[in-house]
Amino acid sequence: MKMNPALVATLGLSGWLFTLSVTAAAPAIIPAPQKMEVHDGVFNLTAKTRVCTDGASRTNGEYLARRLRQATGYAIELAAGKPGRADILLTTEDARAALGDEGYELNVTPDSAVIRAPSQAGMFYGAQTLLQLLPPAIFSSTVAAKADWPIPCVQIEDRPRFPWRGLMLDVSRHFFNVTEVKRCLDLMALHKLNTFHWHLVDDSGWRIEIKKYPKLTRVGAWRDGVGFGLATNSTTAYGPDGRYGGFYTQSDIREVVAYAAAQHITIVPEIEMPGHSLAALAAYPEFGSGPGPFVVPLQAGVNPGIYSPAKAGTFEFLQDVLTEVFALFPSRYIHIGGDEVPKGPWKNDAECQALMQREGLKNEEELQSWFIRRIEKFVSARGRTLLGWSEILQGGLAQNAAVMDWMGGGREAANAGHDVVMSPTGFCYFDYCQSQATALEPRAIGGFLPLEKVYAFEPLPEGLLPDKAAHVLGCQGNVWTEYIAAMPHVEYMTFPRACALAEVGWSPKPARNWADFSRRLRTHERRLDHLGVNYRQDNAVRIGEWLPSQIRTQFVTLEWDTTTSITATGKLFFSLNYSKGGHGVRIESVKLLEDGREIAADVHDGFAGGRPRKPVYELNLPARTTGARYQLQARVAGDGGTDSSGVVVLERRATQAGAP
Ligand code: ACM
Repeated sequence: MKMNPALVATLGLSGWLFTLSVTAAAPAIIPAPQKMEVHDGVFNLTAKTRVCTDGASRTNGEYLARRLRQATGYAIELAAGKPGRADILLTTEDARAALGDEGYELNVTPDSAVIRAPSQAGMFYGAQTLLQLLPPAIFSSTVAAKADWPIPCVQIEDRPRFPWRGLMLDVSRHFFNVTEVKRCLDLMALHKLNTFHWHLVDDSGWRIEIKKYPKLTRVGAWRDGVGFGLATNSTTAYGPDGRYGGFYTQSDIREVVAYAAAQHITIVPEIEMPGHSLAALAAYPEFGSGPGPFVVPLQAGVNPGIYSPAKAGTFEFLQDVLTEVFALFPSRYIHIGGDEVPKGPWKNDAECQALMQREGLKNEEELQSWFIRRIEKFVSARGRTLLGWSEILQGGLAQNAAVMDWMGGGREAANAGHDVVMSPTGFCYFDYCQSQATALEPRAIGGFLPLEKVYAFEPLPEGLLPDKAAHVLGCQGNVWTEYIAAMPHVEYMTFPRACALAEVGWSPKPARNWADFSRRLRTHERRLDHLGVNYRQDNAVRIGEWLPSQIRTQFVTLEWDTTTSITATGKLFFSLNYSKGGHGVRIESVKLLEDGREIAADVHDGFAGGRPRKPVYELNLPARTTGARYQLQARVAGDGGTDSSGVVVLERRATQAGAP
């Protein structure tokens, strides 16, 4: 064994020792394993290599052999029992129980590659790591023109930091078919993400067949156009009659749930209530409260119709729906939404007001809480755990409920002993733009969530009581699809941000290293290329930064030498990306100077802060003069304070179209 101690950082965490190699040649595994030692030598995968397994690991052995055959074209036999020289072994024998439900060890020597795990989820993750140790072409779907398949000799001990590593796909705003959902699941498995939150129901469409209420999909799954102002050719999800939409039959759902389970992914279904329910009410208006008429809308937030807890039959209806949902999804957690419930309909509804009086409920928040508690009792009685968005805390949290924090409340819920999944907008909303230079990006809902910020996310909220940390189950990225109508666009918004979030959820916190992740991502992008993933390629160049010490309350000129960093010509987009401090900076102008002479300027009022406003400056550089010196100048002033810092980045139009 050879390790260069100067290139290796060794850190201790909770009794675990993990070693992070930072050599340029170190394997580029995402998410980074907890502990990895890289040794001299390689194991060569050849046409003679077999995958040997014990009885328990046979299914995972089949999976690995199939994956290896695909790109190598080798026969790769599956065998029971003892491995020979140059075979791969998957075994539970002598696996350390301390590795837990998802942990594994992977030892590669020139003669053997052994994955040892106490559970089959861990075995599967060991196989994922083994695939990432191979050249990226192993992810090719056709036989790759490659002569050798070396696997570096490593000793890996790995297990996740958090049990919930999630991704949510909104299939209501726009519909994605079974094949597309399976693609998401495959890409999740590559990143050791284990929870797929399927947002099946919302105002814009009801997507799950419910046998007892056929109108839910006959009526609620369709709308009169693609909606959200998008072009009709931005999607293929049209029914035979030309209406936009679609749904999954129960048979589809069973197929997808089984497909996910084979990749050790749990699917958590979401059935929204009492708000975001227009699609259901379009089918069954008798359960609604609000002015109506209830129709599946083409835009968000146009008709505040919600379920009425006072109508005869509403709870029976919802319980019937949930009963069919329970039968389809083995998940312990059942998401019931609970977010963004407009209270107007209940305020103006005499039946709801009478119900509030009868039950002694002081306001509509308490009525919402009463609604959720009633559903929670039903869910709990059937052995499941109700999960809802932040707002289910309003008016008091139901006894056994778990909270998905998108806008606060996670810390409070965990401190009170409830399970929590962290999914705050500022770090986890993959519908947000990946650049402030929105002119370069596909249309998005707003917000700004660059990759580096996702990578910096810490799921354990500040102020969490030390003995409550285990209540934070993990983190989740959310892909809301108002403006995302096709799968390549889903991929563009999701990757590589999901790669970063996968590492947040899996790898030990002290092992997280942005520079090292960026290095590994370069290799990982080759894998995504082979998989045909339309990930976002970052062409941003970091021009420089600003620090509080440079900021005054009056306008000052900041300057950065860009002679080497500006290599492109044409239209250049400079963004002032605020990173921290209580106050942002106001911006008057950004100018480009060539040998001290102004050659381009964009003069407009901008703001780089918590809520940025026009922080992007567009400058045209027709040509570069060899040997000239280029400087970028920005006129900025602290906005009520001088404590902000941030970075200036340059972007230009990517050659690869991101999305339709
Ligand atoms: C949400 O984003 N309304 C949960």
